[in-house]
Amino acid sequence: MAETGIDVWVLRPADVPTLGSDFTAVLSAEERARAARFHVAADAQAFIAAHALLRHALTRRWPHVAPSAWTFSSGPHGKPRAKEAVGDCNLSHCRPMVAVAVSDGPAVGVDVEALTPSLATGEVAERVFGPAELADLREQPDEASRLARFFARWTVKEAYLKATGIGLHDALPSEEFVMADGRAQRVGEPDRWSAWWWSPTPDVSLAVCVDGVQPKPTWRWWPPVQP
Ligand SMILES: CC(C)(COP(=O)(O)OP(=O)(O)OC[C@H]1O[C@@H](n2cnc3c(N)ncnc32)[C@H](O)[C@@H]1OP(=O)(O)O)[C@@H](O)C(=O)NCCC(=O)NCCS
Repeated sequence: MAETGIDVWVLRPADVPTLGSDFTAVLSAEERARAARFHVAADAQAFIAAHALLRHALTRRWPHVAPSAWTFSSGPHGKPRAKEAVGDCNLSHCRPMVAVAVSDGPAVGVDVEALTPSLATGEVAERVFGPAELADLREQPDEASRLARFFARWTVKEAYLKATGIGLHDALPSEEFVMADGRAQRVGEPDRWSAWWWSPTPDVSLAVCVDGVQPKPTWRWWPPVQP
Protein backbone atom coordinates (compact mmCIF):
# COMPACT_ATOMS: atom_id res chain seq x y z
CA MET A 1 0.00 0.00 0.00
CA ALA A 2 1.50 3.38 -1.02
CA GLU A 3 1.22 6.08 1.66
CA THR A 4 1.50 9.84 1.98
CA GLY A 5 2.59 12.28 4.67
CA ILE A 6 5.17 11.47 7.36
CA ASP A 7 5.59 7.98 8.74
CA VAL A 8 7.69 7.10 11.77
CA TRP A 9 8.46 3.41 12.20
CA VAL A 10 10.02 1.85 15.29
CA LEU A 11 11.48 -1.60 15.80
CA ARG A 12 13.33 -3.37 18.60
CA PRO A 13 16.56 -4.95 17.27
CA ALA A 14 15.75 -7.89 19.57
CA ASP A 15 12.63 -8.54 17.46
CA VAL A 16 14.50 -8.71 14.11
CA PRO A 17 14.93 -12.54 14.23
CA THR A 18 11.12 -12.90 14.32
CA LEU A 19 10.89 -11.09 10.95
CA GLY A 20 12.75 -13.80 9.02
CA SER A 21 16.06 -13.66 7.17
CA ASP A 22 14.49 -11.76 4.23
CA PHE A 23 14.25 -8.68 6.45
CA THR A 24 18.01 -8.12 6.69
CA ALA A 25 18.92 -9.74 3.34
CA VAL A 26 18.19 -6.37 1.69
CA LEU A 27 21.32 -4.62 3.03
CA SER A 28 24.01 -3.52 0.57
CA ALA A 29 27.56 -4.83 0.69
CA GLU A 30 28.68 -1.46 2.05
CA GLU A 31 26.10 -1.57 4.86
CA ARG A 32 27.21 -5.12 5.75
CA ALA A 33 30.83 -3.99 5.85
CA ARG A 34 29.92 -1.06 8.14
CA ALA A 35 27.96 -3.40 10.44
CA ALA A 36 30.99 -5.71 10.69
CA ARG A 37 33.12 -2.84 12.02
CA PHE A 38 31.16 -2.44 15.30
CA HIS A 39 32.99 -3.83 18.34
CA VAL A 40 29.81 -4.47 20.36
CA ALA A 41 27.29 -6.95 18.89
CA ALA A 42 24.30 -4.95 20.18
CA ASP A 43 25.52 -1.88 18.24
CA ALA A 44 25.88 -3.94 15.04
CA GLN A 45 22.40 -5.40 15.53
CA ALA A 46 20.90 -1.93 15.95
CA PHE A 47 22.72 -0.65 12.85
CA ILE A 48 21.48 -3.62 10.79
CA ALA A 49 17.92 -3.26 12.10
CA ALA A 50 17.82 0.48 11.32
CA HIS A 51 19.21 0.24 7.79
CA ALA A 52 16.99 -2.74 6.88
CA LEU A 53 13.96 -0.96 8.37
CA LEU A 54 14.71 2.16 6.31
CA ARG A 55 14.84 0.12 3.08
CA HIS A 56 11.53 -1.63 3.85
CA ALA A 57 9.82 1.61 4.94
CA LEU A 58 10.97 3.36 1.74
CA THR A 59 9.56 0.53 -0.38
CA ARG A 60 6.28 0.64 1.52
CA ARG A 61 6.04 4.31 0.48
CA TRP A 62 7.38 3.86 -3.06
CA PRO A 63 6.62 0.22 -3.99
CA HIS A 64 8.19 0.39 -7.45
CA VAL A 65 11.65 0.27 -5.81
CA ALA A 66 12.60 -3.03 -4.15
CA PRO A 67 14.08 -2.81 -0.62
CA SER A 68 17.50 -3.96 -1.84
CA ALA A 69 17.47 -1.54 -4.81
CA TRP A 70 17.61 1.76 -2.88
CA THR A 71 20.81 3.74 -3.28
CA PHE A 72 21.95 6.59 -1.09
CA SER A 73 23.94 9.79 -1.50
CA SER A 74 25.30 12.06 1.19
CA GLY A 75 24.51 15.76 1.78
CA PRO A 76 27.14 18.43 2.59
CA HIS A 77 27.11 17.53 6.32
CA GLY A 78 26.65 13.80 5.79
CA LYS A 79 22.83 13.52 5.84
CA PRO A 80 21.99 10.45 3.72
CA ARG A 81 19.41 10.84 0.96
CA ALA A 82 17.62 8.00 -0.82
CA LYS A 83 18.27 8.81 -4.48
CA GLU A 84 15.14 7.10 -5.86
CA ALA A 85 12.78 8.72 -3.29
CA VAL A 86 10.63 11.78 -3.99
CA GLY A 87 11.00 13.11 -0.49
CA ASP A 88 13.24 12.79 2.54
CA CYS A 89 14.08 10.11 5.08
CA ASN A 90 16.16 9.68 8.20
CA LEU A 91 17.08 6.93 10.65
CA SER A 92 18.33 6.61 14.20
CA HIS A 93 19.58 3.68 16.24
CA CYS A 94 20.32 2.91 19.86
CA ARG A 95 20.67 -0.54 21.43
CA PRO A 96 17.07 -1.12 22.57
CA MET A 97 15.27 0.61 19.67
CA VAL A 98 15.66 1.90 16.12
CA ALA A 99 13.51 4.45 14.32
CA VAL A 100 12.99 5.55 10.74
CA ALA A 101 11.08 8.55 9.34
CA VAL A 102 9.90 8.76 5.74
CA SER A 103 8.46 11.96 4.25
CA ASP A 104 6.79 12.47 0.86
CA GLY A 105 8.31 15.97 0.61
CA PRO A 106 9.55 18.08 3.53
CA ALA A 107 12.90 17.53 5.22
CA VAL A 108 12.64 15.19 8.20
CA GLY A 109 14.87 14.15 11.09
CA VAL A 110 14.42 11.45 13.72
CA ASP A 111 16.25 10.58 16.90
CA VAL A 112 15.85 7.72 19.35
CA GLU A 113 17.81 7.45 22.61
CA ALA A 114 17.89 5.03 25.53
CA LEU A 115 17.28 6.86 28.83
CA THR A 116 20.84 6.72 30.20
CA PRO A 117 21.25 8.41 33.61
CA SER A 118 25.04 8.73 33.26
CA LEU A 119 24.57 10.92 30.17
CA ALA A 120 21.93 13.17 31.69
CA THR A 121 24.33 15.17 33.87
CA GLY A 122 24.13 18.85 34.69
CA GLU A 123 27.34 19.42 32.71
CA VAL A 124 25.87 17.90 29.54
CA ALA A 125 22.61 19.80 30.07
CA GLU A 126 24.53 23.11 30.32
CA ARG A 127 26.25 22.31 27.01
CA VAL A 128 23.15 21.55 24.96
CA PHE A 129 20.17 23.34 26.57
CA GLY A 130 19.28 27.03 26.80
CA PRO A 131 18.20 28.92 29.97
CA ALA A 132 14.45 28.24 29.63
CA GLU A 133 15.12 24.56 28.85
CA LEU A 134 17.37 24.21 31.91
CA ALA A 135 14.70 25.86 34.08
CA ASP A 136 12.14 23.38 32.75
CA LEU A 137 14.42 20.48 33.72
CA ARG A 138 14.90 21.91 37.23
CA GLU A 139 11.12 22.22 37.63
CA GLN A 140 10.52 18.49 37.10
CA PRO A 141 9.02 17.00 40.28
CA ASP A 142 11.37 14.01 40.66
CA GLU A 143 14.46 12.35 39.21
CA ALA A 144 12.52 9.96 36.94
CA SER A 145 10.59 12.87 35.41
CA ARG A 146 13.79 14.88 34.99
CA LEU A 147 15.49 11.97 33.20
CA ALA A 148 12.50 11.50 30.86
CA ARG A 149 12.35 15.25 30.19
CA PHE A 150 16.12 15.46 29.55
CA PHE A 151 15.88 12.81 26.83
CA ALA A 152 12.62 14.16 25.39
CA ARG A 153 14.39 17.52 24.98
CA TRP A 154 17.61 15.89 23.74
CA THR A 155 15.82 13.87 21.05
CA VAL A 156 13.74 16.86 19.92
CA LYS A 157 16.88 18.95 19.46
CA GLU A 158 18.74 16.14 17.75
CA ALA A 159 15.77 15.43 15.42
CA TYR A 160 15.74 19.13 14.52
CA LEU A 161 19.50 19.10 13.79
CA LYS A 162 19.02 15.98 11.65
CA ALA A 163 16.05 17.48 9.78
CA THR A 164 18.19 20.50 8.87
CA GLY A 165 20.98 18.12 7.86
CA ILE A 166 23.51 20.24 9.77
CA GLY A 167 24.10 17.55 12.39
CA LEU A 168 26.46 18.39 15.22
CA HIS A 169 27.20 22.08 15.76
CA ASP A 170 28.06 24.43 18.60
CA ALA A 171 24.96 26.68 18.76
CA LEU A 172 22.82 24.14 20.59
CA PRO A 173 21.86 26.23 23.68
CA SER A 174 20.49 29.02 21.48
CA GLU A 175 18.19 26.57 19.64
CA GLU A 176 15.51 26.46 22.34
CA PHE A 177 12.25 24.53 22.16
CA VAL A 178 8.97 24.96 24.04
CA MET A 179 7.46 21.55 24.77
CA ALA A 180 3.89 20.65 25.73
CA ASP A 181 1.53 17.74 25.13
CA GLY A 182 3.99 15.76 22.99
CA ARG A 183 4.55 18.73 20.65
CA ALA A 184 7.68 20.92 20.46
CA GLN A 185 8.03 24.36 18.88
CA ARG A 186 11.27 26.15 18.21
CA VAL A 187 11.47 29.50 20.05
CA GLY A 188 11.45 32.38 17.56
CA GLU A 189 10.42 30.09 14.68
CA PRO A 190 7.22 28.40 15.91
CA ASP A 191 5.87 27.75 12.41
CA ARG A 192 9.13 26.87 10.66
CA TRP A 193 9.50 23.36 12.12
CA SER A 194 7.04 20.83 13.47
CA ALA A 195 8.35 18.44 16.13
CA TRP A 196 6.84 15.77 18.36
CA TRP A 197 8.19 13.34 20.90
CA TRP A 198 7.04 9.98 22.23
CA SER A 199 8.19 7.12 24.49
CA PRO A 200 7.63 3.85 22.61
CA THR A 201 8.77 2.03 25.77
CA PRO A 202 9.54 3.47 29.24
CA ASP A 203 13.32 3.23 28.69
CA VAL A 204 13.41 5.00 25.31
CA SER A 205 12.69 8.50 24.00
CA LEU A 206 11.94 9.26 20.36
CA ALA A 207 11.41 12.54 18.48
CA VAL A 208 10.71 13.54 14.90
CA CYS A 209 11.09 17.00 13.35
CA VAL A 210 9.66 18.07 9.98
CA ASP A 211 10.12 21.21 7.91
CA GLY A 212 7.00 23.43 7.90
CA VAL A 213 3.60 23.23 9.56
CA GLN A 214 2.66 19.56 9.37
CA PRO A 215 0.01 17.25 10.80
CA LYS A 216 1.23 14.93 13.53
CA PRO A 217 2.92 11.88 12.03
CA THR A 218 1.71 8.38 12.71
CA TRP A 219 3.98 6.40 15.08
CA ARG A 220 4.02 2.75 14.06
CA TRP A 221 5.68 -0.47 15.07
CA TRP A 222 7.24 -2.63 12.36
CA PRO A 223 5.99 -4.98 10.93
CA PRO A 224 2.94 -3.08 9.64
CA VAL A 225 -0.49 -4.51 10.33
CA GLN A 226 -1.97 -5.66 7.02
CA PRO A 227 -5.17 -3.76 6.03
C1 LIG B 1 24.65 12.09 12.79
C2 LIG B 1 24.38 12.94 14.01
C3 LIG B 1 23.47 14.08 13.61
C4 LIG B 1 23.57 12.10 15.00
O1 LIG B 1 24.27 11.00 15.46
P1 LIG B 1 23.76 10.03 16.61
O2 LIG B 1 22.73 10.67 17.47
O3 LIG B 1 24.97 9.54 17.28
O4 LIG B 1 23.14 8.79 15.85
P2 LIG B 1 21.69 8.44 15.28
O5 LIG B 1 21.58 6.98 15.38
O6 LIG B 1 20.59 9.25 15.86
O7 LIG B 1 21.77 8.87 13.75
C5 LIG B 1 22.76 8.36 12.92
C6 LIG B 1 22.24 8.40 11.52
O8 LIG B 1 21.90 9.72 11.11
C7 LIG B 1 22.16 9.86 9.72
N1 LIG B 1 23.00 11.04 9.55
C8 LIG B 1 24.35 11.15 9.43
N2 LIG B 1 24.69 12.45 9.29
C9 LIG B 1 23.54 13.16 9.32
C10 LIG B 1 23.25 14.55 9.21
N3 LIG B 1 24.19 15.48 9.04
N4 LIG B 1 21.96 14.94 9.30
C11 LIG B 1 20.98 14.04 9.45
N5 LIG B 1 21.19 12.70 9.57
C12 LIG B 1 22.46 12.28 9.51
C13 LIG B 1 22.81 8.56 9.24
O9 LIG B 1 21.80 7.75 8.64
C14 LIG B 1 23.27 7.94 10.53
O10 LIG B 1 23.20 6.54 10.51
P3 LIG B 1 24.48 5.61 10.17
O11 LIG B 1 25.65 6.19 10.87
O12 LIG B 1 24.07 4.26 10.67
O13 LIG B 1 24.60 5.67 8.67
C15 LIG B 1 25.73 13.48 14.51
O14 LIG B 1 26.00 14.71 13.94
C16 LIG B 1 25.92 13.71 15.97
O15 LIG B 1 26.81 13.17 16.52
N6 LIG B 1 25.13 14.53 16.64
C17 LIG B 1 25.24 14.77 18.07
C18 LIG B 1 24.79 16.20 18.33
C19 LIG B 1 24.72 16.47 19.78
O16 LIG B 1 25.68 16.71 20.49
N7 LIG B 1 23.50 16.45 20.29
C20 LIG B 1 23.26 16.70 21.66
C21 LIG B 1 21.81 16.59 21.97
S1 LIG B 1 20.89 17.82 21.18
